[in-house]
Amino acid sequence: MSDQGKNEQLTKWVAEVVALCEPEKVHWCSGSQEEYDALCTLLVESGTFKKLNPEKRPNSYLAWSDPGDVARVEDRTFICSISKQDAGPTNNWMAPKEMKETLGKLFKGCMKGRTMYVIPFSMGPLGSPIAKIGVEISDSPYVAVNMRIMTRMGSAVLDVLGNGEFVPCLHSVGAPLEPGQKDVPWPCNKEKYIVHFPEERSIWSFGSGYGGNALLGKKCLALRIASKIAKDEGWLAEHMLILGIESPKGEKTYLGAAFPSACGKTNLAMLVPPESFTESGWKITTVGDDIAWIKPGPDGRLYAINPEYGFFGVAPGTSDKTNPNAMISCASNSIFTNVALTPDGDVWWEGMTDTKPASLTDWQGNHWTPECGKNAAHPNSRFTSPAGQCPSIDPEWENPAGVPMAAFIFGGRRNTVIPLVYQSFNWSFGVYMAATMGSETTAAAVGATGAVRRDPFAMLPFCGYHVADYFAHWLQVGRTTPVPPRIFSVNWFRKDENGNFLWPGYGENMRILKWIVERVNGNAAAVESPLGWMPKYEDLDWTGLDSVTREQFYELMSVDRGVWKEELVSHEELFVKMYDRLPKEFPHIRDLILSGVWRSPEHWEQFHSTADKNS
Ligand code: OXD
Ligand code: MN
Repeated sequence: MSDQGKNEQLTKWVAEVVALCEPEKVHWCSGSQEEYDALCTLLVESGTFKKLNPEKRPNSYLAWSDPGDVARVEDRTFICSISKQDAGPTNNWMAPKEMKETLGKLFKGCMKGRTMYVIPFSMGPLGSPIAKIGVEISDSPYVAVNMRIMTRMGSAVLDVLGNGEFVPCLHSVGAPLEPGQKDVPWPCNKEKYIVHFPEERSIWSFGSGYGGNALLGKKCLALRIASKIAKDEGWLAEHMLILGIESPKGEKTYLGAAFPSACGKTNLAMLVPPESFTESGWKITTVGDDIAWIKPGPDGRLYAINPEYGFFGVAPGTSDKTNPNAMISCASNSIFTNVALTPDGDVWWEGMTDTKPASLTDWQGNHWTPECGKNAAHPNSRFTSPAGQCPSIDPEWENPAGVPMAAFIFGGRRNTVIPLVYQSFNWSFGVYMAATMGSETTAAAVGATGAVRRDPFAMLPFCGYHVADYFAHWLQVGRTTPVPPRIFSVNWFRKDENGNFLWPGYGENMRILKWIVERVNGNAAAVESPLGWMPKYEDLDWTGLDSVTREQFYELMSVDRGVWKEELVSHEELFVKMYDRLPKEFPHIRDLILSGVWRSPEHWEQFHSTADKNS
């Protein structure tokens, strides 16, 4: 048992939680390797973990969750600000007093028969002025071991904390054990509550053991609570990957990119450029794959850190072809959740290999063959892996001062409407564009637009306060930042009228990144479009890629007047929900875009004809 620290608040809070939750034992996590190994052994004994074949997957484990506990539960996630208005129209809300009463009843005796783990963790490098310390109390050893990969965790955090402030994060799977009652491999409760008290800066999570519901440093602290702290203190906590691009001359440019969940963020963060690029000396490095904390630096630029220490990546679709760096990151020292088990004790998921294995045990423990017609891995199955194992990890990824941001990229999954890439005219246009970004929820029928879920800044499920105040905060950051990053929109997912993707994506996205880097460094041409600045065909580097024709490129880039009028009208649906707090700039920006779109057909004729089709 490790040092319990000297923090008075913590000692008091732990005693209160013990009295409320009535655990059988209390374990203060030291964060040591011995402790990690012992907890993993315990998880194997209790049936939560299977140890994977050490020759195939050294020091790695597989967990299968309860089939009712497989993803974040957005409809059970609450922002309990004192005033309902402050939670805004996009968050669930309940009055803090009422919620505390509800939670008090649920947490009463909820850890009976279980060990309560006290898990001190730092989001951001230990001791960095940007970092924030949290303490998670959890009755799940699965959470304790995942937190050791995802955060800097253990008694060293208590030494840094001293008697300072921390964010209390209380978690229970909500499954007390009566004396003699046998445990199940994945304890959880049908009733779930993921609750944030933004003014008090505390988190209470009940009923789920999975991912963002239970590993409270990630979405709960580093996004929902941190976004509120960031607003109060004048910085940004964002759902963004951070990557570095090194040019053949050795110049490094850092970008942040926000995409809704399941749009390939981990793939972009670890992108392997096409051969022609690597041969000429272009390189991508990874700072983070999910969250960025961005603060003003002394030189007038914004600097970003990745507050996390590991990746909690979606497994399906990850392969040596789509993301070799992620495959290496999870080759050892990793925890897999809800993927399939191979007969030789390794893991498999859909898309990992071209040929499916002849037989597997699926994520629900059933015998699986390719003919059975079911997924072997759950679509939201995950790997938890140390970020330091990623071959493309940036040498500066643990620099407490962060890395300077030159550009922000925003992208959704849109089969139509949104061009492949454009640069916003200025910061305010960029904020408007990010505020109105969306993703199609269904595949579009031929030529038609699918149902679009607006996901402002990819923060819809993660903003800890009123989303219109969040837009205003972004506008304010632009006003007060002497050298603001340039803002770009991308859409890797545009389809032709037959429903085929027009853009190959993955490593080929490097061509777009290169144009972006050259734009921010003042070295790339662009033409004015109704939405912003766009590359012409000849402004992109096409070396080694024949599959995208000039015509296809212009189809990818087209801005259709009729479709855009509809798009702008649909922005109104988002705006009316928050009209009382909507930044006053927004209606003006919408009108300016409309006026640009209005002259679109003639403009586009000119855009195409300036590109010499015969060259
Ligand atoms: C994630 C998400 O898990 O965005 O990163 O859902
Ligand atoms: Mn995410």
